[in-house]
Amino acid sequence: MSERGSFGSKLGVVLATAGSAVGLGNVWRFPYMVGENGGAAFILIYFGCIVLLGIPGMLGEFVIGRHAQANAARAYDKLSGGKPWKLVGYMGILSATVILGFYAVVAGWCLQYLFASFAGQVNGDAEYVRQYFVSFSSDALKPVLWGIGFVLLTHFVIVRGVRKGIERISKVLMPLLLLLLVIIVVASCLLPGALEGVRFLFMPDFSKLSPSILVEALGQAFFSLSLGTACLCTYASYFSRQTNLLSSALQIALLDTFIAILAGLMIFPVSASVGVSPDSGPSLIFITLPNVFSQAFATVPVLGWVISVMFYALLVFAALTSTISMHEIGTVFFSEEFHLPRRRAAWIITLTCSVICVFCALSVGAYPDLQVLGLQVMDFCDKLTANVMMPVGGLLTCLFVGWCISRRTVYDEFTNGGTTNTGMFAVWLFAVRYACPTCIILILLHQLGIL
Ligand code: PHE
Repeated sequence: MSERGSFGSKLGVVLATAGSAVGLGNVWRFPYMVGENGGAAFILIYFGCIVLLGIPGMLGEFVIGRHAQANAARAYDKLSGGKPWKLVGYMGILSATVILGFYAVVAGWCLQYLFASFAGQVNGDAEYVRQYFVSFSSDALKPVLWGIGFVLLTHFVIVRGVRKGIERISKVLMPLLLLLLVIIVVASCLLPGALEGVRFLFMPDFSKLSPSILVEALGQAFFSLSLGTACLCTYASYFSRQTNLLSSALQIALLDTFIAILAGLMIFPVSASVGVSPDSGPSLIFITLPNVFSQAFATVPVLGWVISVMFYALLVFAALTSTISMHEIGTVFFSEEFHLPRRRAAWIITLTCSVICVFCALSVGAYPDLQVLGLQVMDFCDKLTANVMMPVGGLLTCLFVGWCISRRTVYDEFTNGGTTNTGMFAVWLFAVRYACPTCIILILLHQLGIL
């Protein structure tokens, strides 16, 4: 079998795309973004970004990837008629690599929490739980080792061809994660004083809106859908001719948003109950969740232990299906473009990410002075990718499908040769030609203070 065709099944690849979308972006980043940006009002804007910009952009990447059947850079190049659109592919690969660098830090934290909850180390009152995170994350070695460990785990999956197995078990583990989230949501909402957190999540208070909210919501939407990094384009290159692009995009976006909301419902009620401030930043889930496990399930012996171990294990798995996608696009690119064995191509990505990971882990821990442009390296990488590179990648993708690829090709891909979704084509084309580029440009200009 060729290396291109290494996906287990055609359904498997759509599931893998969902696996790429669902990850720490939903469970870790979404709650802390909502917390930092004032709650429900942010969520409304986030929904708008998903529907108006995310879904059309996702379809754009699907169209490019499935038509070109190639790695990200070659896909853009093939359809560009000699113009330098492959730069969009390069940028996507670069941003996915940077994301993998800082994402691995958080995934490493999850690994630590998996082991710590297994060993029963994170039981205590809210202050103890907070201190536990502070002392673990500021250790000079542990977070770095966990982060690199996670990158190596991803590397192993990519080169050992066990991705098919991962796809297969994701059919069971994803629904299990969903079920567990629902259980934790119920437990969290039953804690005393939890209602305040639910209110924070669903009752918009527009006075809390800050000027940066638009770009933060846009960045979160793109980050959560894995959009603008050419990941979706690379995965779509493995889609079958029969895959219905529109319904796949809708299903993935719906699932992704649903999980993010569940994560919010899991975090804010506890945070209100135990008095953790919603704007605690990236540590938010780590300093709130252990409180649910130890308090809400306290009446039944070992239940809290079982739920917490299962939760962190499933979260690590969800993170892994996302890091595989980030790693995969760079690996396929290097192996196809430079005719390298897959293993060697994978090492290029692994080593680059590991270096980024070390700097990120240290900047949020032992060496907070590791800064770029006044931001800690981790924060810088996060903002650079989510708030700049991904929206710009999405913008260029919309312009590319809307204006550069022949209308016939785009129509054929979108409608599977005129057999499905023909009525939605004009709506989508209008979105990628005019509506999405205008909105993204306005939001970016607003961010730069020009508007
Ligand atoms: N969408 C993933 C998540 O929510 C993160 C991701 C970003 C994956 C970019 C691939 C590319 O966790």
